[in-house]
Amino acid sequence: MMRTFVSAAQLRPQVVQWQREGRRIGFVPTMGNLHAGHHSLLAIAREHADVVVASVFVNPTQFGPNEDFARYPRTPEADAAGLAAHGCDALFLPAVEDLYPYGAANSVKVSVPELPDLLEGAIRPGHFDGVATVVAKLFNMVQPQVAVFGQKDYQQLLVIRRMVRDLGHPIAIVAAPIVREANGLAMSSRNQYLDAGQRARAGAIHATLLRMRAALLRGEPVATVEADARTELMAAGLAPDYAVVRRADDLGDPGESKGEKVALIAARTGTTRLIDNLLIGT
Ligand code: PAF
Repeated sequence: MMRTFVSAAQLRPQVVQWQREGRRIGFVPTMGNLHAGHHSLLAIAREHADVVVASVFVNPTQFGPNEDFARYPRTPEADAAGLAAHGCDALFLPAVEDLYPYGAANSVKVSVPELPDLLEGAIRPGHFDGVATVVAKLFNMVQPQVAVFGQKDYQQLLVIRRMVRDLGHPIAIVAAPIVREANGLAMSSRNQYLDAGQRARAGAIHATLLRMRAALLRGEPVATVEADARTELMAAGLAPDYAVVRRADDLGDPGESKGEKVALIAARTGTTRLIDNLLIGT
């Protein structure tokens, strides 16, 4: 039976009890509107923990002023049913006052250096500060030993890893593989903004990532691979914000380095922005 906790104060005694019982807590933070991608995170958390906690909180501080905070899809009943059906033990629905007791604008901020200036961070100023801040607070409330994040938000995953190391959080961060629709489109809550035509076109993002990987493994230069990827995306009717190859560990320029790389794409169709990535071993 999944239990629901609607405040940090309500969750606290339960966390203490789990700790006394020596149970490992696995944590899946979300913003709700859950799909199969999120459900896969629960299964991975279960492999690493005795109890699985999921949070649902649409975090205002990670949305820019012109972004979709107000219209971000909120589906609390379906989320709770899906979590219960996929092995979640506890649903944490913190109140805004739990996370921002002084108001969002007056919150202590966790700001991870360097990484947030690149790619998504350059296009969405302040986004990763909002993510790092809310995740640090949620970690304090849930006190997990393990937390699972989807690889789809690759830069977010790196930001969280760096935060955890730098702040000394005793938490293992586990990356979960991207779950895709039949046409390769990475699952995302934002996919529901797409009409049928846009959804079909968006399949070109994953196809382009696969071609980027093949071209790199054939030894084509990074600059050519990136330029071809942009051309492919535009030919498919998408507007790329970026289509790049970076070092997998810190998103730096890969140069001639032999280490693991990652291809990352952000592209727009209509008013919807989609992101995806693919790791490229060497
Ligand atoms: O990936 C998300 O859904 C959010 O960025 C997260 C990690 C739950 C923080 O609000």
